[in-house]
Amino acid sequence: MMECKTIAGIKLPAIGIGTWNMGRAKGPVERADYSNDEQCILAIKKAIKLGMWHIDTAEMYSSGHTEEIVGAAIKDIPRKKVFVTTKVLPLHLKHNDLIAAAEESLKRLQLEYVDLYLIHWVNLTSQIREAIAAMDELVESGSVKHIGVSNFSTKQLQLAQSFTKNKIVTNQVEYSLLDRSCEKELLPYCQENDVALTAYTPLAEGKILKNKTLAAVAEKHSKTPAQVALNWLISKKNVIAIPKAATMEHVRENAGAVGWKLNREDTEMLEKEF
Ligand SMILES: NC(=O)c1ccc[n+]([C@@H]2O[C@H](COP(=O)([O-])OP(=O)(O)OC[C@H]3O[C@@H](n4cnc5c(N)ncnc54)[C@H](OP(=O)(O)O)[C@@H]3O)[C@@H](O)[C@H]2O)c1
Repeated sequence: MMECKTIAGIKLPAIGIGTWNMGRAKGPVERADYSNDEQCILAIKKAIKLGMWHIDTAEMYSSGHTEEIVGAAIKDIPRKKVFVTTKVLPLHLKHNDLIAAAEESLKRLQLEYVDLYLIHWVNLTSQIREAIAAMDELVESGSVKHIGVSNFSTKQLQLAQSFTKNKIVTNQVEYSLLDRSCEKELLPYCQENDVALTAYTPLAEGKILKNKTLAAVAEKHSKTPAQVALNWLISKKNVIAIPKAATMEHVRENAGAVGWKLNREDTEMLEKEF
């Protein structure tokens, strides 16, 4: 059974599924490659079946094609059984651009509303006020159920909160054993203020999985290194994670990151190592 957390009044699975690189052509530019769509669709469907019903995507990913993949994967699933997060690019943070971007995302996702709409990141803090006002309008019109931010500093998050009467449900930031920078200020702030910290790149794109300490802890619990890395993250108050997995084996494995607990000694060992 997937473990869930209720944060900002919303129940979410502790582990969801990320989709960056699904349907993306190799290379530095975001471009679509349709050749693996079927595999990605099956992976998302499997993730949902295994309880990872929070799907994270963005208009940026594969220049919109990833949203199309998500749309195809969920189109036969009852709407309330999935929670879809998507994100608007900094390029689209002016009022009319943001409203139009949200409409385009909805079309690609084949949805009438997204559950959570995030500002992907800002280039200038001065972009936040207008963007948040436009997002509030989307909540009012029903195109978006909840709003949030990504890659925001604590100060920027506080500003976003001050500009809206809606809740800023999450700040989605990088967080893994390898990158623990959010622990200093942002995570305590989220924990104290009922904001979810959504951990992206939670497996450090696989870079941590060969670590000896991680392997030892995994062996002790008869788990895999990826399961331990994810379990460590979601053991933190207010943290949920969105590992990306397009390989069926990885999807199954990540679903097994919940339902058990690391003890204090394991946690200390891991935190000393990384
Ligand atoms: N807001 C932002 O700015 C931002 C930035 C980066 C990422 N994100 C979101 O966060 C999601 C996750 O981050 P990410 O994709 O950067 O990195 P990640 O989830 O840390 O790593 C993904 C990589 O790990 C592999 N993997 C997954 N499960 C595994 C397992 N159990 N064992 C071994 N390898 C495994 C995947 O392979 P397969 O695909 O082959 O299974 C993929 O190559 C993204 O997809 C995206 O939705 C958001």
